Amino acid sequence: MKIKTALTSALLGMSFMAASAMAVDLNMVSGATGGDLAFDTAKLADFAKETGINVKLVPMPSSTTDQFGQYKLWLAAGNADIDIYQTDVIWAPQLADQLVDLTDAAKDVVKDHFPSIIQSQTVNGKLVALPVFTDAPALYYRKDLLDKYKLAAPKTWDEMAKAAKTVTDGEKNADLQGFVFQGNAYEGLTCDALEWVKSNGGGQIVEADGKISINNPKAAEALERAKGWVGTISPKGVLAYQEEESRGVWQTGKAVFMRNWPYAFSLGNKDDSAVKGKFDVVPLPAGGEGGGSAATLGGWNLAVSKYSKHQPEAIKAILYLASAKIQKANALEQTHLPTVVSVYDDADVKAKQPVLVKWKDVFLAAVPRPSAPTKTKYNEVSNLFWTAVHDTLSGNGSAKDNLGNLEAKLTELKGDGWK
Ligand code: GLC
Repeated sequence: MKIKTALTSALLGMSFMAASAMAVDLNMVSGATGGDLAFDTAKLADFAKETGINVKLVPMPSSTTDQFGQYKLWLAAGNADIDIYQTDVIWAPQLADQLVDLTDAAKDVVKDHFPSIIQSQTVNGKLVALPVFTDAPALYYRKDLLDKYKLAAPKTWDEMAKAAKTVTDGEKNADLQGFVFQGNAYEGLTCDALEWVKSNGGGQIVEADGKISINNPKAAEALERAKGWVGTISPKGVLAYQEEESRGVWQTGKAVFMRNWPYAFSLGNKDDSAVKGKFDVVPLPAGGEGGGSAATLGGWNLAVSKYSKHQPEAIKAILYLASAKIQKANALEQTHLPTVVSVYDDADVKAKQPVLVKWKDVFLAAVPRPSAPTKTKYNEVSNLFWTAVHDTLSGNGSAKDNLGNLEAKLTELKGDGWK
């Protein structure tokens, strides 16, 4: 009996040692917007059971700007503690040198994704990240309130502002805002303001050929229009809002309109949401002549650090998280837009999240931020742009003057060409 017990425990000890020798622990950093962390944690637990590779999530701030600042520092220091980075669509040219080339590892799956997204993550022939979801915003509107005032979903920014005023005046509820968006001084404001400018015929800040185009009357008009919202249909506090602050106001039933990304759709329809079943989405409004609706292209990817000591396992983990199976779950559970084309034709996705099929067209027409033409200087370009916009919205200089100064600063930054 004694011998048997000793033998069993020796065997158990051996198999435990074998399992722990095989087990690998990785760290993945990820920003947390909406339900992303809970989703990834659950999926990575399944992955650990299948593979023995444990990926620990290290939560980061929601702001892409804050994440970028931290990741640049870690990568510059050759940090080996972080194996996997969740990366914004605009970062590829700036981080390419410090990330592993995934061309070989992903050769069987790249054809499943939208070619434009794979292209955006390819720098000088090197695939630096695998897409997990793409992003394109829409105008969220309260169907119940627009119906009550016999208003149609707006097609232009001025119609939106007018409808917001009609509803808020009619409701006489001091807590109800007309329009919430991302007005904080960070990357999110670059996205919102690019939409105002582009939809007004004012270009894309820096064009695909590298030309600085932002100092023009249509861009200035678009920013002055947005300034007119602050303190009228939008709260003054909008100047500090990011995605989650806007969603907080919206989801507690305190806004008629909201500009936000698709993730807010599934969250807004959860049981704890005050707006469940009361809202819908339409493409963002158009501005003036030469414009039309414009949605900024967003999206997130996964990349492996060059300094990771477990690159093969990290690559396995990102292939799993970027797979059609997980993208389908992400579409169903979080209304994240898949980058794997076939997921849009999936019967479950069509039946349970029909909104994503409509949203695919918005994504296909989305406007990229100028990260490709401005290369390693994109973050500085964006920072100068959102600062000029934030100043304008805050009443700190006119749009015309602020865009004039911006052009001068961008010209200096560009030097004899974007590098
Ligand atoms: C979303 C987009 C991302 C963008 C960010 C701005 O997360 O997917 O591309 O940079 O919003 O706040």
